[in-house]
Amino acid sequence: MRIYDIILKKRNGLENSRSEIEELVTGYVKGLVPDYQMAAWLMAVYFNHLSPEERSSLTDIMLNSGEKIDLSSIEGTKIDKHSTGGVGDKVTLIVGPVVASCGLVFAKLSGRGLGHTGGTIDKLESIPGFTTSLEVDRFKKQASKIGIALAGQTAEVAVADKKIYALRDVTATVEEISLIASSIMSKKLAIGSDGILLDVKTGKGAFMKNFKDARELALAMIDIGKRGGKKVGAVISDMDQPLGRMVGNSLEVIEAIETLKGNGPADLELLCRVISERMLIIGGVADENSAPDIVKDVIDSGKALAKFDEFVAAQGGPIDLSANYRKYLSPAGVIEEIKAERDGFVSGIDAEGVGLVCMRLGAGRKTKEDVIDPAVGVEVIKKIGDRVARGETLAVIHGNSRELVELERKVLMETFSFSTSEVLPPQIVHEVL
Ligand code: URA
Repeated sequence: MRIYDIILKKRNGLENSRSEIEELVTGYVKGLVPDYQMAAWLMAVYFNHLSPEERSSLTDIMLNSGEKIDLSSIEGTKIDKHSTGGVGDKVTLIVGPVVASCGLVFAKLSGRGLGHTGGTIDKLESIPGFTTSLEVDRFKKQASKIGIALAGQTAEVAVADKKIYALRDVTATVEEISLIASSIMSKKLAIGSDGILLDVKTGKGAFMKNFKDARELALAMIDIGKRGGKKVGAVISDMDQPLGRMVGNSLEVIEAIETLKGNGPADLELLCRVISERMLIIGGVADENSAPDIVKDVIDSGKALAKFDEFVAAQGGPIDLSANYRKYLSPAGVIEEIKAERDGFVSGIDAEGVGLVCMRLGAGRKTKEDVIDPAVGVEVIKKIGDRVARGETLAVIHGNSRELVELERKVLMETFSFSTSEVLPPQIVHEVL
């Protein structure tokens, strides 16, 4: 079919067949279909959406456009996790060692942060000696030996998605649920795990600002995953305020360690428990009844913490990081408290705003080329629902330039909103699917 007719069908609200989508996408990757035709189709999809069949075809075609990582030589059940991204999201650093110490294999490729959300790879690279560039062979050997390996995306997975995403980014067609679902799942399905747990964030600091859209995205991704032969589950979790207390690379590593020691903040601890439990259920090593006790046991007994240290050492970091993190993770040079100016209750913390403060302090990247400062970030002391008295500390800002800290402390203050009447804290887990 002519590319014009493929676009016309979608523009008129009809379904494209798999072969039509294939002609369009593979033609685009090969440079035979120009940007303006692909952009026109994407805009038609933005308004008319994709059916489950079209969504699944698009995912499959994008997945087959790049490299795949075959994990079948690794014994045991391989489980993956994906978060749609948030502020202070260090869940992978905690649930990875938890599920690995319960007998699952957690072999995951992670990304770097861009904009207001942080990336797991940047957090791990704040650990001295830690390498995230693992050759596929070493990645698999490590996953096989200790049950956990985490590397940056070196393989050229889902090449078509990369090219199409770049076009969506400049043609106002990113925010369409079937395109987002296909994009995420094409990369996830390229890694040969048996099961995937999706953590779909909702709230002001998330990609999906409201619950309805987050749920729709989660259901679309579950449907794609199941059609691709995977066991898939999803948790819809809150991102109306930063997750936990720490935002910034080494600060988040410290908070992950403390959570594995059982000293984590309540929201982070609960979310990690729920996600770990779902991963064990999807991975077939526990059921609804046994999963909570199994997760509790590996944390209380220190097994998950020991697995974290084993993982860090296997990738070049110090073997005693969890016991001696202060020795390895140097603090920032300028640390300032932000104090409440009046009595009241915290009614909101703009997670995106906090993420942007951290980015400008050096914890994240404005552009892909920016260099990360591992020590800087923000500690959120008061969270939504907390009562505050005038003069009490709301947050602590960690920077390496006095000038930047002075500038950003005012912005950080404005990320907090207050109420004179009591405020209920948001629930961290909205739904498990
Ligand atoms: N993340 C992705 O990988 N793809 C999207 O389309 C949106 C967010």
